[in-house]
Amino acid sequence: MAIGEKITISVIKADIGGWPGHHKVHPALIEKANELLAKSKEEGTIIDFHVTYCGDDLQLIMTHKKGVDSEEIHGLAWDTFKEATEIAKELGLYGAGQDLLKDAFSGNIRGMGPGVAEMEITLRRSEPIVTFHMDKTEPGAFNLPIFRMFADPFNTAGLVIDPHMHMGFRFEVWDIMEHKRVILNSPEELYDLLALIGAKSRYVIKHVFPKEGHAIPSDEPVAVISTEKLFEIAGEYVGKDDPVAIVRAQSGLPALGEVLEPFAFPHLVSGWMRGSHNGPIIPVPLKYATPSRFDGPPRVIALGWQINKNGRLIGPVDLFDDVAFDDARRKALEITDYMRRHGPFEPHRLPLEEMEYTTLPGILEKLKDRFEEL
Ligand code: 13P
Ligand code: 13P
Ligand code: MG
Ligand code: MG
Repeated sequence: MAIGEKITISVIKADIGGWPGHHKVHPALIEKANELLAKSKEEGTIIDFHVTYCGDDLQLIMTHKKGVDSEEIHGLAWDTFKEATEIAKELGLYGAGQDLLKDAFSGNIRGMGPGVAEMEITLRRSEPIVTFHMDKTEPGAFNLPIFRMFADPFNTAGLVIDPHMHMGFRFEVWDIMEHKRVILNSPEELYDLLALIGAKSRYVIKHVFPKEGHAIPSDEPVAVISTEKLFEIAGEYVGKDDPVAIVRAQSGLPALGEVLEPFAFPHLVSGWMRGSHNGPIIPVPLKYATPSRFDGPPRVIALGWQINKNGRLIGPVDLFDDVAFDDARRKALEITDYMRRHGPFEPHRLPLEEMEYTTLPGILEKLKDRFEEL
């Protein structure tokens, strides 16, 4: 492994049991995952790894040489979740195995429940990356912050003043209902891009790419977001998707502080209690990645890394563990009170079409025959 060689970063996560309820991951699950990934590192399957949590989601962060969608790496993650689920069952954790929606691994973990964000990159001389991990929300929660990082000059000064960024970026947007994708150029197609990604429950940013002429090859992602939709796999509500993202920084990309800046605004996301409510996302240090009030409010942690020339993950740095985000947290708590006072009313509770996969249709079904024509 050396500078200029390809390396893959994989973040694969799953909720395999909460402690208690949907609160957080039990340390025994982290210990088990550490043990299994250490073995794979020793055997040379992966180069390096780190295991952590965000709320009740177990997070595997790995570097390796096998590329994205590697059967070996996905299989490793699947087996790790499976084995840790046995411990979750033993401990009687809530929803043990919640996100393992299929029985047998069939070569790729996508569509089986866990969330996946992976990128294969050509290692730069210095490679700063941030992994973001959210709990109690859905992939569209990343639309606003990723847009701000790579397309909003009021967030990212580099778009205006750095000649290496001035040309902008390309956004790959997925329509997760129709299973289609489109690539849009920023800034030329900024308004088209916003027309789509403002509808965050349907159109989600999957990748950001540089343009031709950038020092990074234009087919190499600079950001990737997990876009799994649990209800589509399960056919019913089994928990929110609780997405993850990987973002590269510096040297012609947003600086570290430009990558973090969007989270100074605790924007509204959907998820929270029973996956059915809008609420603010709070940027928190790891020790507060523990949704409690009304099973929330939704959380995001940011872990900072340098990948060294051998592919080692130098980190994590707990990036939201800083007073600079105190006001965002305070604001989020204020919004929490305000939203909560709406109780079961929209727009705190999600609109009907988004409630389709929750337990609400069961209630409406019961009333069906009592409706009279007007
Ligand atoms: P249950 O208590 O029936 O699991 O539902 C509430 C919940 O937490 C939804 O996941
Ligand atoms: P998770 O998606 O984090 O399991 O949360 C489920 C839930 O319903 C919380 O109220
Ligand atoms: Mg859960
Ligand atoms: Mg969760």
